[in-house]
Amino acid sequence: MGTVTLINNETGEKFEFDLIDCKRGPKAIDFSKLFETAGIFSYDPGYGSTAGCKSTVSYINGKEGQLLYKGIPIQEIVEKYNFTDVAKLLITGEAPKDKAESEAFDLELRHRSFLHEGLINIFSAFPDNAHPMANLSSAVAALSTFHFDHKEMEEENDYQTMARRIIAKITTLVAFSYRNAIGAPFIYPDVSRNYVENFLYMLRAYPGGHLKHTLKGEEEITDLEVEAMNKIFVLHADHGQNASTTTVRNVASTGVHPYAAISAGINALWGPAHGGANEKVLVQLNEIGDVKNVNKFIERVKDKSDPFRLMGFGHRVYKSYDPRAKAIKNLKDELNKKGIKMNQRLSEIAEKLEEVALSDDYFIQRGLYPNVDFYSGIILTALKIPVPLFTPIFVIGRMPGWCAQLLEHVKNPQARITRPRQVYIGD
Ligand code: ACO
Repeated sequence: MGTVTLINNETGEKFEFDLIDCKRGPKAIDFSKLFETAGIFSYDPGYGSTAGCKSTVSYINGKEGQLLYKGIPIQEIVEKYNFTDVAKLLITGEAPKDKAESEAFDLELRHRSFLHEGLINIFSAFPDNAHPMANLSSAVAALSTFHFDHKEMEEENDYQTMARRIIAKITTLVAFSYRNAIGAPFIYPDVSRNYVENFLYMLRAYPGGHLKHTLKGEEEITDLEVEAMNKIFVLHADHGQNASTTTVRNVASTGVHPYAAISAGINALWGPAHGGANEKVLVQLNEIGDVKNVNKFIERVKDKSDPFRLMGFGHRVYKSYDPRAKAIKNLKDELNKKGIKMNQRLSEIAEKLEEVALSDDYFIQRGLYPNVDFYSGIILTALKIPVPLFTPIFVIGRMPGWCAQLLEHVKNPQARITRPRQVYIGD
């Protein structure tokens, strides 16, 4: 551990602060007593240089394009584990030891995936065509009224029940939010199908539980589709102190019900600068319409008099290729080869955009690369997921991360209410 000396050039006073050795990555100055000792505070809008907590959940090295969940590289995670394994890894610190443990955890989630009938009524209050993200955050906040006991959690069992319950129910809530928005009857979970398959089933099935009929019979959900959906969820499971996770922690820091904090996180994720970008990418690709329009589009993106941005590009932490974007791009190509056909036109436009952007000084100088949202929509479209569900899919993926981060916060006796200061510039 080293120290840093702060010299106030106005008064000549010197103050010493400890440097914290992070297990990975650069050191941090412990400024927690800056105000008490030096009578000044730090100004860091957007918190680009500020750590709000200590965490063990995930680690990002933005320069090297590295992401770890609980110390394990994302590339290994995505090959080795399915989504429910990753959920267990994040909320308990340990992945299932074997197939039996993995299946038991998945089964537990399936059995918890049903909603209280009273909660289902809430959907009838929402207008047709309501965005599923709005339905979803409201329904998750309402879930706190049905499971109010999670407001006070004392033992590990309480924490686990809270987390497993919301991870289990979020797929049902997403499916119901969507079906409500299109006026389709709800399809209840089918416990004979695993967590991920069950989600696709609740989206696709007809009343009576039948899947689409073709002349060859019912169009079953394939293993390849389940594998693809699993990988998409896994790649979204946690990502350091991003805006929505920080929102969850901030709201939880007031001692509120955990589902109220998670509902706030869902709202934070909805914004186009964050998880809402995956929906906007598809809109942009369709607007571009043809590879021949890519260069003109990039010129508009670079025009500083226009706030327009290339969606799915750029990241606060990654100044090199986002490893999740790399994995999703590879997944897109792999699925295409294995038989889940991507929309070729959109895929070509996206690849051309990437090619043009990555060789352009504007993007090179600013370290702008594709992020997780750039290619995910193309795969989701091929999986027959409608565009308004792209960000709710992100919600499902991120739920274990939010739970793990929330638990880390509420279990920490030293954690304080989040309360930044301000640089007052008023009268
Ligand atoms: N297109 C064009 N220019 C961009 C883009 C982009 N996508 N992203 C950043 N820039 C430019 C900015 O205009 C700025 O240029 P300047 O230095 O000339 O002013 C510079 O790059 C730095 O951008 P900031 O906005 O300061 O970067 P910040 O870290 O605050 O924002 C963000 C990161 C929000 C992700 C941004 O890159 C962006 O808006 N991207 C598009 C939306 C998107 O894809 N969001 C998803 C992010 S991943 C996730 O949240 C899941």
